[in-house]
Amino acid sequence: MPATASPDIAYIEEISPGSGRRVAPRAHLDSDSPVLDLCGDWRFRLYPSAGEADAAASDPGFDDSGWDAIDVPSHWVLRGDGRWGRPAYTNVKYPFPLDPPHVPDANPTGDHRRRFVLPPDWLAGGRVWLRFDGLESLGRVWLNGHEVGVVRGSRLRQELDVTDQVRAGGNVLVVRVHQWSAMSYVEDQDQWWLPGIFREVTLLHRPDAGLDDVWLRADRDPATGRGTLTVELSCPPEAYPVRVRCPELGLEAELRDAAAAHALDVGPVEPWSADVPRLYEVVVANAAETVTVRTGFRRVEVVGDAWLVNGRRLRLRGVNRHDFDPIEGRVFDAPKVREAMLLMKRHNLNAIRTSHYPPHPVLLDLADELGFWVIDECDLETHGFETNGWVGNPSDDPDWREVYLDRAHRMVERDKNHPCIIAWSLGNESGQGGNLAAMATWIRRRDPGRPVHYENDHTDRYVDVVSRMYATVEELVELTRTRPGRPIIECEYVHAMGNGAGGIATYEATFDAHPALHGGFVWEWRDHGILTATADGTPFHAYGGDFGEVFHDGSFVCDGMVLADGTPTPMLAEYAAVVTPIKVVLAAEGVTVDNRRHDGDTGDLTFGWVHEVDGRAVASGVLAVPPVAAGDSTSAPLPTLDRGAAGEHWLTVTAALADRTPWAPAGHVVTTAQLPLGVVEPGASAAPVAAPEPAVPSDDGGYALGEARFDRWGRLLSVGPLPALGGEVTLWRAPTENDSLATRGSYELADPAETMGLGVDGPSSAERWREAGLDRLQPRLVALVPGPDGLTTRYLLAAANSAQHLTVEQRWRWSAGTLQLDVDVQPSAGWTVTWPRVGVHLRLPAGYAEASWFGTGPGENYADSRVAARVGRFSAAVDDLTVRYAVPQESGHREALRELRLAGQGLPSFSVTTTPVAGARPGFVVARHSAEEWTAARHPHELPRSHGVHLYLDLAQHGLGSRSCGPDVRPEHALWPRPVAASVLFRVGHVDRADG
Ligand code: GAL
Repeated sequence: MPATASPDIAYIEEISPGSGRRVAPRAHLDSDSPVLDLCGDWRFRLYPSAGEADAAASDPGFDDSGWDAIDVPSHWVLRGDGRWGRPAYTNVKYPFPLDPPHVPDANPTGDHRRRFVLPPDWLAGGRVWLRFDGLESLGRVWLNGHEVGVVRGSRLRQELDVTDQVRAGGNVLVVRVHQWSAMSYVEDQDQWWLPGIFREVTLLHRPDAGLDDVWLRADRDPATGRGTLTVELSCPPEAYPVRVRCPELGLEAELRDAAAAHALDVGPVEPWSADVPRLYEVVVANAAETVTVRTGFRRVEVVGDAWLVNGRRLRLRGVNRHDFDPIEGRVFDAPKVREAMLLMKRHNLNAIRTSHYPPHPVLLDLADELGFWVIDECDLETHGFETNGWVGNPSDDPDWREVYLDRAHRMVERDKNHPCIIAWSLGNESGQGGNLAAMATWIRRRDPGRPVHYENDHTDRYVDVVSRMYATVEELVELTRTRPGRPIIECEYVHAMGNGAGGIATYEATFDAHPALHGGFVWEWRDHGILTATADGTPFHAYGGDFGEVFHDGSFVCDGMVLADGTPTPMLAEYAAVVTPIKVVLAAEGVTVDNRRHDGDTGDLTFGWVHEVDGRAVASGVLAVPPVAAGDSTSAPLPTLDRGAAGEHWLTVTAALADRTPWAPAGHVVTTAQLPLGVVEPGASAAPVAAPEPAVPSDDGGYALGEARFDRWGRLLSVGPLPALGGEVTLWRAPTENDSLATRGSYELADPAETMGLGVDGPSSAERWREAGLDRLQPRLVALVPGPDGLTTRYLLAAANSAQHLTVEQRWRWSAGTLQLDVDVQPSAGWTVTWPRVGVHLRLPAGYAEASWFGTGPGENYADSRVAARVGRFSAAVDDLTVRYAVPQESGHREALRELRLAGQGLPSFSVTTTPVAGARPGFVVARHSAEEWTAARHPHELPRSHGVHLYLDLAQHGLGSRSCGPDVRPEHALWPRPVAASVLFRVGHVDRADG
């Protein structure tokens, strides 16, 4: 293999912002000047190393007929069925030696060639520019055999002036893309490495005297409501006069000269905000070109500890978002992205951090239009240097200064017109250093209208906003003391990996209590699983290692609130419920409505109420709530309700959209609140209480109790015609990724009573659970007592070589066709580890397909994730009761079950009714696989064929926490060994027919 030091390919390792006929960075503009879309079919050839690329390929006469075809935009590793390499995933670490600026000899290099015909009139005047919106990681470009530039900065726009190389008629464009370059060292974001030309390639005809750059700064004075439009143009002197028009505002101005900026008073204007994204269309035109800008008037300020927009403090209900699609990688699909953003809006998200690079430009158009506060982040991350103590970090190496500055220029200039952008972020996890300082200085000078963000600056040298990731609430509160007078955000929190994050509500309460805390951004929106298939054709979403990478970070790339295929996880509903901008609080004294929107009163909402008894509506209506202005609250009386009927009474109030909006239909529920109104006991029953039946030995050595059968150990075998196996107590749940990964310390190792911080570092919960043998408990029957009123068993559960155990007593009774189980669990002394769950496990026939229940729902809920849950009657397919996470793990738990009914074609209905014990009822999980099966599989397709439906009645479950990247389950939500009990009735009903 030729050495990378060969002079011809030295540019790959050059530390340079880019070279050749680069055009100065400028705004992404909607212009009427002609463009030629160069996307579509290109010829393609992949070489295993840069030095092997065919030198003749840049020659316009080169015969590429033997090459393959590829579509642009795309990533070649997602094309070619593996012939062109595979994606590779690493988080922090570099997949090549840390030897900057050098890269491995094995540097996959893809030559892309295409021919195009220049529109005939383009050479009559003006310039021709060639635009690249994104290619990874470096591209050398030839047009008609002339080298026109080297494009660097994978997620940044670059335009090259090719006027002198383009020719009338046919043209040949060649782009040689190298997967690795010196730039890979500053593009170490936590994501797949996906080489290729993945954003558009466009040819632009720039008119002489055109409006090359336009910046409209649309300010609005919050005190007077008057707007000022400051117009800054970059164009030659002969481009003047330039007209600026906004018919809606009656604005009509003519700019006669090239003053640095023209400030136009536009009179009273409506503000732009994420809640009310009011845009005005402004047309900037001269004789040569017309540019249309959708602008929004708003003022962003940092005043003391307040980050204000339009004079009001922000509350960021945000999410980190990558450009990602499970089939196309980072190729942007506007309709799909729009759908995803509507889903965000419908879940009360109001902010996006473009982690960790400027997104496709259309994302920002959508954010302007739909309403999102955006932190636009630069394409910069050098995290892998941390593994070597940050030695040689480019952030503090003067050789890299121009690269850093160029990246800041290209982000700010491209995106500066967007009202949605409320801060510029220097990048992510790049340590500290003078180059970051230089970026911040340049950005502040260029755009004093937006603050600068950078999380890794813990000494506040470069930033206007203090930012942290995955800090505990205690650490955040501490920051309000150590950084007084500064606004604070969590740019990443509540890591959405697998089942979790729990504890969102604790953050929200902390933000509420400390005005300097302006909210945060969930990590992250979507799993980055890549759709692929096993050798036998079974489709699945791949994560690190699935493409045969030897060096990777596994499933850490799947940590979204929506799965790779876009399916929302339960966390999305939980987040929506926790951060709702409309807080409805129900109390005996009345209802309080708190409008925490940035903008807009509650006049768009209908406050419907429903009174339910045992989950069935008995009355409903609409509350008369006068419109509440943003930032205000009001109260209204509760409706008059007839509380006489026997049963459990609940009042539910929903705030729903009265009319459709651009992001949701009429009737969309923004928030739900509930008030328990108590339980009315039924009067004395006329029916005589049936006497319990005796347990009697059966011929097979077991026992019969009414229609229930037990084996010799007292384990349930059947109820009537139904095989219902087990009923034993288990402590095991399939570890969630928050249970099994431990990036931060644990509360568990510290004294739960005293711990207020994060606790101490230590093994993950799953490691500790396994060490304690909770996945291999052995039963020892202590007593089995068949008696006149039922069967009682008492057994110990303990692990090999463990002195700790639990004592389980189960009392089975049969009366009036019903099997009752009372269960008591007592831990021995000496436990030093939490328990995942205390569950009664029953295996039922696989044919059960539908579940309906009265309890909490509709989604799953856990001790630290229950705000979205309400009490009511729900139904769902068994398949939909658990979540197909990228890695199989515990899911689907629903607390406080009252009644559950399972139905399946040809099977008798099976129902469970619970009675509270000391005020508590068990929760339940219904799943097609057992906790042990989930534990053993690394992907959903590795789960064995389902042999039955597993019902877990959980006397208790451990919380979820966020420890895969963040704090553990908080002490108050942890399941420390304690006595628990439950009382349940099982009933087997009639056989369901064809309708199941
Ligand atoms: C952060 C990082 C993100 C992501 C996250 C964990 O440190 O900024 O890019 O890696 O952790 O999923």
